[in-house]
Amino acid sequence: MDRQHRTLVDMINRVYELMEKGDLQQAKTYFRKEITLYLERHFTDEERFMREIGFPDYESHKKAHDQFRRLMLNMIAKMEEGDDREFGSALALVWGWLYSHILKVDKKYGEFFRSSR
Ligand SMILES: [Fe+2]
Ligand SMILES: [Fe+2]
Repeated sequence: MDRQHRTLVDMINRVYELMEKGDLQQAKTYFRKEITLYLERHFTDEERFMREIGFPDYESHKKAHDQFRRLMLNMIAKMEEGDDREFGSALALVWGWLYSHILKVDKKYGEFFRSSR
């Protein structure tokens, strides 16, 4: 899971790199296709792992993922409408959400897993 988190961080950095190069279109496409796909894969893997280890806070963690899934769908819909400012704030939001989610929420199933072994 930690490896997937690192990959996600790398992927978001890649979007910033593309934007700095002025390649807004490619940055958007990468975000819309690659990142959403990888994020969904990560959420699914994480949810399966939490069920496997019998993590007691599974439901609330799953709920947090579901809320974020909806948020992503909304952001992508707005991006499709071509709002570039929307893209910048979408990116900042995703970055901020992931960062605090990994550090605060994901951390808990890791602790549970280690203490239950
Ligand atoms: Fe995660
Ligand atoms: Fe998570």
